[in-house]
Amino acid sequence: MTAIIELNNLSVQFHQKGRLITAVKDATLHIEKGDIYGVIGYSGAGKSTLVRTINLLQKPTTGQIVVNGEVIFDSENPVQFTGQKLREFRQKIGMIFQHFNLLSEKTVFENVVFALQHTQTQEENGKKRYLTKQEKAEKVNHLLTLVDLADLADKYPAQLSGGQKQRVAIARALANDPEILISDEGTSALDPKTTNQILDLLKSLHEKLGITVVLITHEMQVVKEIANKVAVMQNGEIIEQNSLIDIFAQPKEVLTKQFIETTSSVNRFIAGLSKTDLLAQLEDDEELIHLDYSGTELADPVVSDITKKFDVTTNIFYGNVELLQGQPFGSLVLTIKGTTEHRQAAKAYLAERHLQYEVLGKIGKAVK
Ligand SMILES: Nc1ncnc2c1ncn2[C@@H]1O[C@H](COP(=O)(O)OP(=O)(O)OP(=O)(O)O)[C@@H](O)[C@H]1O
Ligand SMILES: [Mg+2]
Repeated sequence: MTAIIELNNLSVQFHQKGRLITAVKDATLHIEKGDIYGVIGYSGAGKSTLVRTINLLQKPTTGQIVVNGEVIFDSENPVQFTGQKLREFRQKIGMIFQHFNLLSEKTVFENVVFALQHTQTQEENGKKRYLTKQEKAEKVNHLLTLVDLADLADKYPAQLSGGQKQRVAIARALANDPEILISDEGTSALDPKTTNQILDLLKSLHEKLGITVVLITHEMQVVKEIANKVAVMQNGEIIEQNSLIDIFAQPKEVLTKQFIETTSSVNRFIAGLSKTDLLAQLEDDEELIHLDYSGTELADPVVSDITKKFDVTTNIFYGNVELLQGQPFGSLVLTIKGTTEHRQAAKAYLAERHLQYEVLGKIGKAVK
């Protein structure tokens, strides 16, 4: 697969009050056509600065940017990418923001049609002309139907909910048939239910239009819902990047693990254990285990396997499974009871099956 967006060794520096701020540090990110690429990090990590380079809203200090095979920036070999060329290029990248950025004096229809004011079409004889009023109206009505807002064309932004405002912004972002849609915290101002509705819309637009989506967020749940790839940013650097499945199955960095933990309730369950007498109730030949499983290995057969193979009994206290990109990911907290030898053999079997486990406690010595 070829990358539709290549950011190579990008750095972005700002001079502010005599101080040098490095907002992005030597970041390399390749986004393939059709990806929904999540970029996650805390406030100030450099996410917005990084993605604003994709359409040159932000000029890098050093590095190279290639979009659709065209070098649009290269600090080593400066390229001329300005004027009409830059304007036409930017039309092919739609962008939505946390606070929607709608024109409050204009109706929903007018907000979207505004994005078509400089749009040209090519006639059969090769000549370019601006869209007619009629063509623009047809386009806007089509877009409003696509985002499920056809009934609200004459309303003003103040009359809309947050989710509806973001739908207007999405329709506007799609006006020039972009190949790339960038969402900079597009769901951060929305409640969880509306967030999911907007994510569902982005997912369906991605499927219908084949659009590549770059999704900036500070919420791992958002990434988990729709992204197929993830980059984690910290202090201007991309500290980890991988497919969604691999990030969740094998996170490497502490920050990545922290983000993942925010989307799972198993850690809250484990933290709450000390307030219960569950650990104290464990018998001498019983231990409490936390097991994470993902993708190819399903926990259920493994748990029944160990009871059959190793003469141990199990008791499940917590279980959760969900689908990531259609693959099951889950956690279990369970007891394994049996002789020391049998329990050792059962745990060795878990390790052999590449299931990650930790022993949480045994009578008399709570590990956590
Ligand atoms: N135009 C600018 N001038 C000076 N410093 C800037 C400018 N834009 C960004 N910065 C600084 O660069 C760093 C990264 O900012 P950026 O907005 O990219 O982070 P972010 O990850 O998008 O954060 P947030 O989640 O709060 O939006 C911050 O320290 C910020 O203060
Ligand atoms: Mg930002």
